[in-house]
Amino acid sequence: MRNVVDVLKDKQKRRVAIFASGAGSNAEAIIKFSLEHPDSTFRVVLIISNLATAKVHQVAERFGINSITINDKEYTDSQEYIKVLLQELSNSNIDVIVLAGYLRKVPAELVEKYDGRILNIHPALLPKYGGKGMYGMHVHKAVIESGEDESGITIHIVNSEYDKGEHLKQVRVNVLPTDTPEVLASRILAVEHSEYPLVINEFCSYK
Ligand code: GRF
Repeated sequence: MRNVVDVLKDKQKRRVAIFASGAGSNAEAIIKFSLEHPDSTFRVVLIISNLATAKVHQVAERFGINSITINDKEYTDSQEYIKVLLQELSNSNIDVIVLAGYLRKVPAELVEKYDGRILNIHPALLPKYGGKGMYGMHVHKAVIESGEDESGITIHIVNSEYDKGEHLKQVRVNVLPTDTPEVLASRILAVEHSEYPLVINEFCSYK
């Protein structure tokens, strides 16, 4: 049984929903951080994916977190899709939305409702190598093909345009002459795992 102080502390934490489409390694790092730091300012209470097959569901299951699939492609009526998303977020009393490898544009209605409370991570130094179509390995390929000697991560607030919201943090990562997109991706991913939870934690201490 937890003591009263721990129960009360948990109640004060920001309730986070993670949106993810893929492996969910960032989701895992964020969940672990919140569990390993009793004084963390947030807890992950919901995972939403657009894909039923996304591995992030397994991550959620391992940690006993509710995870659901809401696939825009299954809705002929986009308003219905948005209604379902908003309803799920409201059912779980979500304060902050964290995008972690979410390959869908967040509908304008959500950006409006959670104005300034949606975060995203991008595996490059925005504004370079951002925008539509710039995701996953496409980003690292483009960085290497352009002969950049540095790349990195950008954590930013989501607004109505792809990868254009206010930056909260950037961390640089050297690109080595021997790097393949895969090797660079794995070095950048390790930085994402250590930095994203810290930024979310700081963000949730104010929001
Ligand atoms: C990360 O590189 C993130 O920056 C990008 O998508 C990738 C997601 O990886 N937006 P994972 O699903 O968290 O493992």
